Amino acid sequence: MDRIIIQGGVPLQGRIQVSGAKNAALPLMAATLLTDQAIELSNVPDVADVATMQRLLQRLGTGSTMQPGAPGTLQLQTSSLMSTTAPYDLVRKMRASVLVLGPMLARQGEATVSLPGGCAIGTRPIDLHLMGLERMGAVIELEQGYVKATAPKGLKGAEIKLPQPSVGATENILMAASLADGDTVILDAAQEPEIVDLAALLTAMGAEIEGAGTGVLRVRGRSSLGGASHRIIADRIEAGTYAMAAGITAGHLHLEGVKSEHLGVAAERLEEAGLVLEDVAEGLSVKVAEGGLKGVDVMTRPFPGFATDLQAQFMALMCMANGASMITETIFENRFMHVPELARMGARITVHGGSALVRGQSRLTGAPVMATDLRASVSLVLAGLAAEGPTTVNRVYHLDRGYERLEEKLRGVGARIERAG
Ligand code: UD1
Repeated sequence: MDRIIIQGGVPLQGRIQVSGAKNAALPLMAATLLTDQAIELSNVPDVADVATMQRLLQRLGTGSTMQPGAPGTLQLQTSSLMSTTAPYDLVRKMRASVLVLGPMLARQGEATVSLPGGCAIGTRPIDLHLMGLERMGAVIELEQGYVKATAPKGLKGAEIKLPQPSVGATENILMAASLADGDTVILDAAQEPEIVDLAALLTAMGAEIEGAGTGVLRVRGRSSLGGASHRIIADRIEAGTYAMAAGITAGHLHLEGVKSEHLGVAAERLEEAGLVLEDVAEGLSVKVAEGGLKGVDVMTRPFPGFATDLQAQFMALMCMANGASMITETIFENRFMHVPELARMGARITVHGGSALVRGQSRLTGAPVMATDLRASVSLVLAGLAAEGPTTVNRVYHLDRGYERLEEKLRGVGARIERAG
């Protein structure tokens, strides 16, 4: 199994091109099931989760081709659905597979999708996705670990109030509503930039959507949707991760293709923690302020709050800060699995329920560590970049799910990092 070996201690200097957002690409790819016309997506990141979604769509009947001579440009077309079942072997690999449920149900009146089950960062149910579709007239049955949804009379617009803003549920309902009969209102919708990107594609396909990026989404359903071309937004989580790589190594990076506003509240917290973020012509410049890194408290919240997908990386950064930091996770109940691994590198972290107290210091030492999920893994890479001595990160397939050419990008700015079989 692949490992990543890092010799830390090099301040990273130079430019990194930020890729397209994985968490935008996945719902956008699922949305192409809503039409029999071709959809062209550009700035698609070359990561394993995108390949998994491509495989799933192919099983459902989608033809997908990478455009020759245009890296990252993917053309997808589902002239007709050959199957409406998303099987366990693919859904188990990637929870975002459940995003095909809404589009298939809206287009074909039926969809069968394996329940994703638990995953490393918590139980993560899909009850809100199902509740929304039921409100639109779907009949949902659970059979042998599969959700079987039918809408014999088609989906109808409805008012749907989410008890908490779920990104995936908002996306599934938004896609289904675009092809439903009548108007849908989603209250307490998720406001993430990836939802705004999905709404932009759906609008280009002919949907009528108001309020994307706010807590109230209004959708006027259409009887059919058409083809479109769309460029995927930059990956704010990848950008935040590399911003922290600059911070933790006391380096200076230019992140191309992203602006500080893309990071939301995270940009403010990073500045409080002692990073200098400056929007420049070609992107975002990130370096450490003269006073060095400082301990700052953060609490993960739905967008525009501090992203849970940046929590593990921020914890690694805070290990190197002067002073303590309290990091509170409110989105997922089991998202501190990086803590014991960081502790193996000398970090001083105490967890009490959903909060972790990080006692900052200026020294981490390399160690063999185990990646447990995507963002936890990259936090160990960040710690390894700052540590004295070699760090070996095992189970790197987690990293490959969401970071495009990670070692190549980091090597390009001076990191001593390599992959070993
Ligand atoms: C998406 C992101 C993931 C990110 C998360 C939160 C993708 C592919 N993944 O995941 O990287 O960490 O948003 O920003 O975009 N919940 C329920 N019932 C449901 C759905 C969610 O209780 O039916 C709960 C979850 O357990 C969690 C919270 O709602 O506590 C938020 O989850 P959600 O926003 O749905 O996350 P995902 O869409 O799975």
